Amino acid sequence: MQRFLVAFFSLVSVLTAQGAPGDTHIAIETRKTALVIRVDKEQNPTIVHFGQRLSRPDEYAQIPGNGKRGEDYTGIYNSVYTPAGSRNLLEPAIQVTHADGNPSLDLRYVRHESKPAGEGVVLTTVYLKDPQYPFEVTLYYKAYQNEDVIEQWSTIRHTEKKNVTLHKYASANLYIPAQNYYLTHFHGDWANEMNPTEEPLTEGIKVLDSKLGTRADLFQPPSFLVALNQPAQEDQGEVMAGTLAWSGNYQIAFEVDPLHNLRMTAGINPYASAYTLAPGKEFVTPAFLFTYSNTGKGTASRSLHRWARKFRIPQGQGDRLTLLNNWEATFFDFNEEKLTGLFKDGKKLGVDLFLLDDGWFGNKYPRNNDKTALGDWQENVNKLPHGLGYLVKEAENAGIKFGIWLEPEMVSPKSELYEKHTDWVLKLPNRQEYYYRNQLVLDLTNPKVQDFVYGVVDNVMTKNPTIGYIKWDCNAVIYNAFSATNPNPSHLYVEYVQGLYKVVERLRAKYPTLPMMLCSGGGGRVDYGALRYFTEFWPSDNTDGLERVFIQWNYSYFYPSIATCNHVTDWGKQPIKFRTDVAMMGKMGYDIVVSKLDEKELQFSQEALKTYERIKNVIWQGDMFRLASPYTGDVASLMYVNEARDRAVWFTYLTKNRYKAGSVAPIRLQGLDPAKNYTVRELNVYPGARSAINNTTAYSGNYLMTVGFNPNVDARRTSVVLELTEAK
Ligand code: DGJ
Repeated sequence: MQRFLVAFFSLVSVLTAQGAPGDTHIAIETRKTALVIRVDKEQNPTIVHFGQRLSRPDEYAQIPGNGKRGEDYTGIYNSVYTPAGSRNLLEPAIQVTHADGNPSLDLRYVRHESKPAGEGVVLTTVYLKDPQYPFEVTLYYKAYQNEDVIEQWSTIRHTEKKNVTLHKYASANLYIPAQNYYLTHFHGDWANEMNPTEEPLTEGIKVLDSKLGTRADLFQPPSFLVALNQPAQEDQGEVMAGTLAWSGNYQIAFEVDPLHNLRMTAGINPYASAYTLAPGKEFVTPAFLFTYSNTGKGTASRSLHRWARKFRIPQGQGDRLTLLNNWEATFFDFNEEKLTGLFKDGKKLGVDLFLLDDGWFGNKYPRNNDKTALGDWQENVNKLPHGLGYLVKEAENAGIKFGIWLEPEMVSPKSELYEKHTDWVLKLPNRQEYYYRNQLVLDLTNPKVQDFVYGVVDNVMTKNPTIGYIKWDCNAVIYNAFSATNPNPSHLYVEYVQGLYKVVERLRAKYPTLPMMLCSGGGGRVDYGALRYFTEFWPSDNTDGLERVFIQWNYSYFYPSIATCNHVTDWGKQPIKFRTDVAMMGKMGYDIVVSKLDEKELQFSQEALKTYERIKNVIWQGDMFRLASPYTGDVASLMYVNEARDRAVWFTYLTKNRYKAGSVAPIRLQGLDPAKNYTVRELNVYPGARSAINNTTAYSGNYLMTVGFNPNVDARRTSVVLELTEAK
């Protein structure tokens, strides 16, 4: 603690340093990174540095104002939060119409402060104000010292005589001067999530956004990488990784300005979302999270992973349950007898929990397909005559826990809920109803609906307190976005997400340790807004082993393995060993018919689960290193190294099928201790197969990281898992 205080006070002295006469410099620093704000004599706050922290903070004052080259006609191209309507000429962070109709804003520095916000966290607050109007913006920067992550958000308030309209209200506005910029963003669709594209940014604006309302990142997640000067590399070069912690419509704009500097604004999407702010009320934006690395995107990912485990994801440094899910094993076709059989199968396999998926509810309109019953969360009496309580007990009698699937935000047109409460449903009068997976979205901006949605989960949990897991699904986007009860139609998209967060906040308060999976008809909803409440997420319905190598690879840029649910299923052509090896690089589960496994497959799976139990902490809590990319070679290779650097688990997969494709040369490992010696042992060897790895030699970390090691992946050994243990 004492060390921490000393560090903090030395930081405060940096914050008040004034290098150039009359200017104030506010340095938001982590262990390696600095974001420096300069305030000039006219109280204009601008960003003069984002990147590596300088060893002499007084030199921040020497940094040229707009990153160099040429005339900034406004003096605020690099504004810390660009206001629209006065002298700004570029993309604003905020645009408002004042109570008197004036459509302009000016924001000048008032003061700033900095204080500890937990061990290793410093919160800097910068207060800005319009000189002519009682209108204030406060910028918050939480700097996570050891993780090198900065969390930025803003609050907006005013005391004008009447309401003010906020047209745009970004979370963050950054400014980065470099020679060139390379943006990596991700796009996809159902079962095809997270495809990366890297492109140079040129003058003009590139926008990433979503207008889907609920499953905001189905087409394009709010996460990206920007490499400076050269395309992003794994272990060298300057890279920023950013992500918006918001589960709804977002907009991230990258503008290369007339001076060839990069301006960035990130926040809620202004699309159809003008916000009426009453006097004295405060609007809080979601947080934008970012990290900077000058040793490539690998470091950036590890920083985000460490931050997420320690500061964001519930039980991020704790445990998780392996499970057997019945979705692909039964779809909607099950009854008590079938399920109790599956509990025994789960136990035989060796998982911790059985997860009952979709199809267990609805009586007037039984949920026998995806067209009915969402909203009618009562057990279907034909399928489950003895109710959930009976199933929970039966599972426990079989020796495993019981978890359940819910989709609480949704309603089927064929449901009793829809019949009773048409005004609880998002839809437009005088318009045809459009369905996404045959369903509509409930109006979470309505407090009564929030209570209902909370009650869906709370009732199930109150009646069955030993339920050990919730899978929270969300299969529809918002069409015909309109609420029958919300007086502000253009608040809908924003208040939907706020309503959702209120519900899960209440649930977390009552059930702080309940594992909850964030699922969205595959991976349509993964962000650090929702991951404040959910212990894990479902990356994709596509569980084809080969596809998953790519999908998981791309999620790994931003999300840690402990939160990434990977299930072994029957998708794809890969052998069960391949699918199991891939699923192990995260939180492992199964969605297969155990009774259809042959003797060897069952034995292999049982042993794999035991192995997983032994190594899971290295995978979940260790540092991840992407060693060989499936986008540039024949194999994908990743490893996880524990903090003590005495254990590592290393996965390699064949991802191409050309003649002689394979790991033709040694792969250089990373993250080991060069001075330690390690033995290498193959895991998940299929019954009857012999490992091609000699486990008697101990190699130094130095050797393994300089020369490398060949896991011997080829067409006969398409996936190889190796464990490295310090030889003592
Ligand atoms: C979509 C999910 O991604 C699946 O895993 C499954 O739960 C179905 N929904 C059930 O409807």
